[in-house]
Amino acid sequence: MTAPTIDLLFRPFAFGATTLRNRIVMAPMTRRRSPEGVPGPDVAPYYRRRAEGGVGLIISEGTYIDHPAASAYPNVPNFFGAASLAGWSQVLAAVRQAGAKMIPQLWHVGAIRQCGMEPDATVPGYGPCAQIADGTTLVKAITEADMDDIAQSYGRGARTAQDLGFDGVAVHAAHGYLIDQFFWDVTNRRADGHAGSIENRCRFAVQVIRTIRRAVGPGFPIVFRFSQWKMNDYDARIANTPEELGIILRALAKAGADIFDVSARRFWLPAFAGSDLSLAAWARRLSGKPVIAVGSVGLDQPHQSKVYRRPDNVDAKVTDIGTVIERMSQGDFDLVAVARAILADSQWVEKIRRDAFGEIKPFTHAAMMAYE
Ligand SMILES: Cc1cc2nc3c(=O)[nH]c(=O)nc-3n(C[C@H](O)[C@H](O)[C@H](O)COP(=O)(O)O)c2cc1C
Repeated sequence: MTAPTIDLLFRPFAFGATTLRNRIVMAPMTRRRSPEGVPGPDVAPYYRRRAEGGVGLIISEGTYIDHPAASAYPNVPNFFGAASLAGWSQVLAAVRQAGAKMIPQLWHVGAIRQCGMEPDATVPGYGPCAQIADGTTLVKAITEADMDDIAQSYGRGARTAQDLGFDGVAVHAAHGYLIDQFFWDVTNRRADGHAGSIENRCRFAVQVIRTIRRAVGPGFPIVFRFSQWKMNDYDARIANTPEELGIILRALAKAGADIFDVSARRFWLPAFAGSDLSLAAWARRLSGKPVIAVGSVGLDQPHQSKVYRRPDNVDAKVTDIGTVIERMSQGDFDLVAVARAILADSQWVEKIRRDAFGEIKPFTHAAMMAYE
């Protein structure tokens, strides 16, 4: 039997109404180049370079839905409003011209927002549970009516993506933001039917996906990103067993999710005791849906979300991608997403296709702060 080769990554992949030219996805990366929520003039060229570099699908950086409490960080793009959407149209056109497909990642930060943050300092965060300090509500506990509003806001975002001509939509339900705050029992200590059992903790996510599916109709891909790890807790877990994971993923698949984007810091590590299977491999087996694996592809160090904008040592050296090929060939995942390696070197895909590993630029803090 011949060993699997890099060609495995360059097979096309059917994606909704379109076809991806290969299996390599640019992972979502917040870059904060969108003052007032409007993608700035350098944003389209930034994405275009990655498309020219050969990536098949680009998932945009997290982009805020039109709920008043969706945001927490400055210079992150909005996915609503004429000026922001005009900016996104330019990004999409640039990416398309260079042969890649693109989907926006819809984002609501939940309780990461606190009262006092821009754009409206009077708007508190909205999370599963209230946070009050010295009589000030920093975070409001979400009501059923708020859940409806937020789900509708996701639905409008997805419909906007469809109307603008994007190839699908991605939902950020990972890393400790709003949807994940419901999944995780540490942040979800509600006393109602949205807390406690794993079924209850996924109800809000299911509502969001159902609302999106209703807004876009059948055939428009919904990519759902989840993770065990959180920005500030690498060992956190939403599912303690494969059975729990299966409950979450099957509920989401039934609601309309098409592809699971399984965010890990190292894509190959075993997810649960007693098995070598990675989280992506489990997700594929349990959901019956295609999955994207991500985490330390092409780099020797994992993503350091705790320090990622500080000048701490976040450098990572270039590695080969033998494990990606091996694990893909054994059916663990369908697509692979790459974040920092493609941030540092826009031509990463083309270089691995040519087997020119020696030419690939490593990931450094300087690369992270630049926008090339
Ligand atoms: C600068 C930077 C910004 C990121 N922003 C986002 C984001 O907006 N949404 C998201 O889901 N993940 C975000 N991530 C996580 C990446 O998508 C990815 O999951 C993580 O970096 C692991 O992949 P890697 O090892 O290839 O870097 C970000 C990562 C980096 C380095």
